[in-house]
Amino acid sequence: MRVIVCKDYEEMSKKAADIVAGQLAMNPKSVLGLATGSTPVGTYKELINRCKDGTISFKDVTTFNLDEYYPIKKSNSQSYDYFMNDNLFNHVDIDKANVNIPNGEAADAAEECKRYEAKIASSPQVDIQILGIGQNGHIAFNEPEEELYSETHLTGLTDNTIEANARFFEKKEDVPTTALTMGIGTIMKAKKIIILANGAAKKDAVAALLSGKITTASPATMLNCHNDVVLICDEAAYN
Ligand code: GLP
Repeated sequence: MRVIVCKDYEEMSKKAADIVAGQLAMNPKSVLGLATGSTPVGTYKELINRCKDGTISFKDVTTFNLDEYYPIKKSNSQSYDYFMNDNLFNHVDIDKANVNIPNGEAADAAEECKRYEAKIASSPQVDIQILGIGQNGHIAFNEPEEELYSETHLTGLTDNTIEANARFFEKKEDVPTTALTMGIGTIMKAKKIIILANGAAKKDAVAALLSGKITTASPATMLNCHNDVVLICDEAAYN
């Protein structure tokens, strides 16, 4: 795993945007895997600026998001659908027909997971997957468990994650307790993975990731099995 330690969040976001922009310059029809959470917001802001100044274009880009709460209405300001529109898609020249996010409104979660996995499988391979990391080492919504799932699935959220995400909701009870998420295998299919981490709250998760040990107790450690992963973090998250 390549590790880039940045002095702060801004530098981390710029570095990640540089890699994504380089990919889009190389192939305007790139496929991007995208994440939500507060971590990638700075990267998205950078990409928006570069799109506005004409350096990059999303016109022919396809995207697949990692996860979505379930059930949740797309119009809910806490849905990941809403988040992506608000933080990226509404500000760049992407064709929304090429945007893919698990559907939190689907009547049948299992069917939706099958549909989403098949859609990814039928698309050209994801060129770059952007990931954040949970305090407990989760990636997407693959939470620490005895067994991890390979494909897109419906999952329960741990208390730690509900607690961590409660800051976005009015009260903790409003945080959905289940979600649809790409599995570890789905994520690992990407050609390149950029994992972002900032702030002291991510220190333990980053330490586990860099320990070289692989354990389902910290799902991000599975990334040690991938041959092109870049961890971009700030000093506070780095041990
Ligand atoms: C969320 C998302 C993850 C994200 C993580 C960290 O629950 N499902 O994809 O990486 O938690 O979030 P944040 O960046 O806000 O710390």
